[in-house]
Amino acid sequence: MNRMRLLNKTAIITGAAGGMGMETVKRFLEEGASVAATDINTKRLISEMGEHPNLLTLQADLNNEAEVEELVYKAVNRFGTVDRLVNIAGIAQRATPVEDVTIAEWHRILDTNVTAAFLTSKFAIPVMKKNGNGAIVNISSISAVRPRPGLNAYIVSKGAILSLTSALAIELASDNIRVNAINPGPAETDMLGQFAAADADAETVKNSIFKDSVPMGSLIQPDDIANAIVYLCSDEAKMVTGAILNVDGGRGL
Ligand SMILES: NC(=O)c1ccc[n+]([C@@H]2O[C@H](COP(=O)([O-])OP(=O)(O)OC[C@H]3O[C@@H](n4cnc5c(N)ncnc54)[C@H](O)[C@@H]3O)[C@@H](O)[C@H]2O)c1
Repeated sequence: MNRMRLLNKTAIITGAAGGMGMETVKRFLEEGASVAATDINTKRLISEMGEHPNLLTLQADLNNEAEVEELVYKAVNRFGTVDRLVNIAGIAQRATPVEDVTIAEWHRILDTNVTAAFLTSKFAIPVMKKNGNGAIVNISSISAVRPRPGLNAYIVSKGAILSLTSALAIELASDNIRVNAINPGPAETDMLGQFAAADADAETVKNSIFKDSVPMGSLIQPDDIANAIVYLCSDEAKMVTGAILNVDGGRGL
């Protein structure tokens, strides 16, 4: 049976110009959703996706509260409501000994990887409460539970996303709003090489160290993540909340 699993759903997807984000936008459109796709730089998104009747592309910096509020407003204005929020946007950290991490870099990573998801939730949740239903998916990382040296601020940010997920899952359960997280393992996107230390070769780190760390023997692909997000946003997961789904080829084991 070929049914559309997200028919009549309206989603905001952040990080939509990135590797996982763009694939998720495509999958959501295939599954019948209306999508407000947002990124700090939408150039690539616009050129790859073109025009689609169910797609609204919005440029916004998620570190700017007013811009986040405006993007939720614009999505509701275009589609009538929002009942799915997928927090994918994030930045990497170049592996750095903790004593060399500047306070500015620490804040930059926590602001983008944690505070942004708080802000999108803050503005989307009232709309979901009005609907009487909703679902949020937060992208964390398997590194939150299986850390690597030097990724200190990034790991803290991804641990916080898991805590945000459980905090909101219990807070919103009685509003029929589900909140779940995904822990991707090392994935084949532009971000992966950015975890390499300043003196390391990014391609070697990506294709040997990261790839070899996955027990199943290959890097995770963006569609592996997108498919898991589709499931968690579909009614097939209607009793799933507060869950953490590892999509990591066994890296967390
Ligand atoms: N690639 C991996 O190996 C990996 C592994 C585990 C978790 N993750 C997480 O998965 C998510 C997606 O990563 P990806 O691999 O697709 O990376 P990516 O770099 O391809 O995409 C991230 C996107 O987020 C956007 N973004 C960054 N800062 C922003 C801001 N302030 N406002 C709006 N948009 C902003 C970027 O422009 C980019 O398009 C991230 O949260 C990342 O931490 C990635």
